Amino acid sequence: MVGLAYTSVGAQPQSGRAPAATPTFSKDVAPILYKNCTNCHRPGEVAPMSLLTFKDARPWVKSIATRVTAGTMPPWHADPAHGEFLNDRRLSDREKATILAWANGGAPEGNAADMPATPTYSSEWLLGQPDAVFAMQEDYPIPAAGTVAYQYFEVPTNLTEDKWIQAMEVRAGDPAILHHVIVYARAPMPARPSQAAPPAAGATSPQRPAPLFQFAEGTTRIPAGQTGGPPLPPEERKAPGPNDRPAPRQMGPPVGGFAPGQFTRVYQDGTALKLAAGSTLIFQMHYTPNGKATTDRTRIAFKYAPRKPQTEVHIASLVNGGLHIPAGAPAHRVDAEMTIGQDITMWSMLPHTHVRGIRWEYEVTYPDGRTDAVLSVPKYDFNWQTDYVFKQPLKMPKGTRLHATAWYDNSAANKSNPDVTKDVWWGDQTWEEMMYTGLTFSIDAMPVTPTAGQEK
Ligand code: HEC
Repeated sequence: MVGLAYTSVGAQPQSGRAPAATPTFSKDVAPILYKNCTNCHRPGEVAPMSLLTFKDARPWVKSIATRVTAGTMPPWHADPAHGEFLNDRRLSDREKATILAWANGGAPEGNAADMPATPTYSSEWLLGQPDAVFAMQEDYPIPAAGTVAYQYFEVPTNLTEDKWIQAMEVRAGDPAILHHVIVYARAPMPARPSQAAPPAAGATSPQRPAPLFQFAEGTTRIPAGQTGGPPLPPEERKAPGPNDRPAPRQMGPPVGGFAPGQFTRVYQDGTALKLAAGSTLIFQMHYTPNGKATTDRTRIAFKYAPRKPQTEVHIASLVNGGLHIPAGAPAHRVDAEMTIGQDITMWSMLPHTHVRGIRWEYEVTYPDGRTDAVLSVPKYDFNWQTDYVFKQPLKMPKGTRLHATAWYDNSAANKSNPDVTKDVWWGDQTWEEMMYTGLTFSIDAMPVTPTAGQEK
C-alpha cells in the first residue's frame, strides 16, 4: 500500500523532477515568466508582446513552446561548454520542462488565487530608479532615407565631484532608427597642458608602466576615414554637411552604450566605472533611416555606487580593422590578438560584428602556457549583442595573450547578407563590417586611480 499511496500523490512535485500533473499558468508558469521574461515582455518594453497575465500569454503558447524548446528565448548565445556568466539568461531544465508540460497539456490557467504578485517595475528604467539621467540637448532630425554618418552630441554633466558608475542604461528617443550608441566621458582638461609630446602608442618610458596592451602583428587598429571600401586618402573623404555633428577632437573613454539586445550594464558590487567631476559626455550615435523621417533625443541613466569602490573597471577594445571579406566567402575568418602588459582582471567581453558575422571564439594563453577557451558564441546574432560577464572574473597576469577569432558569412546562405556580390571592409555602417570586442577590466596593481584634479 505504501507504494500505491506514493504514486497517488504524483501531483505533488517530486524534487528534481517535473511535476506529473499539468502545470497551471497561475501556480507554475507565471513565476517563471516573471523571473525570466517580463523584464522585456511587458507593455512598453523591447519585446513584441506582454507575458504578464494569462490573457496576455495564452495566444502565444505555441510560439513560447517553440522558442523555449529551441533555446532562442530567452535570448542567449554563448556555448555553455565554455565559461559561466553572471548574466546568463537561459532557463533551467526544470523551468523549461514546466513551461513545455503546461503548453503541451492545454495551457490551463489554473486557480487565479495562485497567481504570484505582478512584478512591479519601479520606473521606466530596467535598472530601477537611476541617480542621474543625461539627455542629448536637441531633438536631432533623422531623414526618411539615406545614410547618416555617425553623429556626436556633447552633454555636460556639471558634476562637482567624482562619481562611480555602478550601473548604466541607455534609452533611445526613437528605438526604430537607432543602431547603436556609445557614450564617452571626457574629463576636464588639466589647467596647464603638459608641454611634452604625448608618447607614441605602445611606447614605454621610465615614468610610465609597461603598455597595457600590445597588439600582435596583423591586428590592425581601426583605419581612419574608412568607409567600407579600401581606406580613402584624406582629400577624398566626405566633408561634413550642415546637419552633421562631427566628432570632437577629444573623446575620453567609453562609459556606456547601447546595441541591439544590450541596454544595461550592472557592475558587480565593489567595482565601478569612474565618472570624473566636470566630465562632458559625448554620445556617438549611429542612426539607420527606416523610411520615415523622425527625430531622436537619446538618454543615458546612471546608478552611482554609494562610495568609492574597491576596484575601478575600465573599458577597452580588441579590434582588427584590417579585415577584408571577399564576396561570396561562406566562412571568412578574422583574428585579433594582444598581449597583456600588466596583471589585470577581465570582467566581461562583448563581441561585435555586423550582419555578416556568424561566430566568435576567444582563447586565453597564460604565461605558463596553459590555454583556455573562455567564451564561444557559435551562433552569433547581430540582433542580440551581449556583454558576457564572467561569473569568475579572469585573472590575466602580465604576458597573457588574448586571442579573438570571428567568422563571417558573405555568401547567399546568410539570410541577413545585404549584398552577396560585394567585398566588405571595415566600416561604420551595418552593410560594412567590424571585428570589435569591448572589454571591461581592472588593473590589479592599481585598483583605483587617483582622484580627478590631481593629475591626468
Ligand atoms: C532580453 C529581452 C527578452 C527576454 C528576457 C525574453 N524575451 Fe522573448 N522576445 C524578445 C524580443 C525583443 C522579441 C522579438 C524578436 C524575436 O522574435 O526574437 C522576443 C520574441 C519572443 C517570442 C516570439 C514571438 C512571436 O513573434 O512569435 C516568444 C514566444 C518569446 N519571446 C518568449 C519569451 C519567453 C517565454 C521568455 C522567458 C522565458 C522570453 N521571451 C524572454 C525579448 C526578450
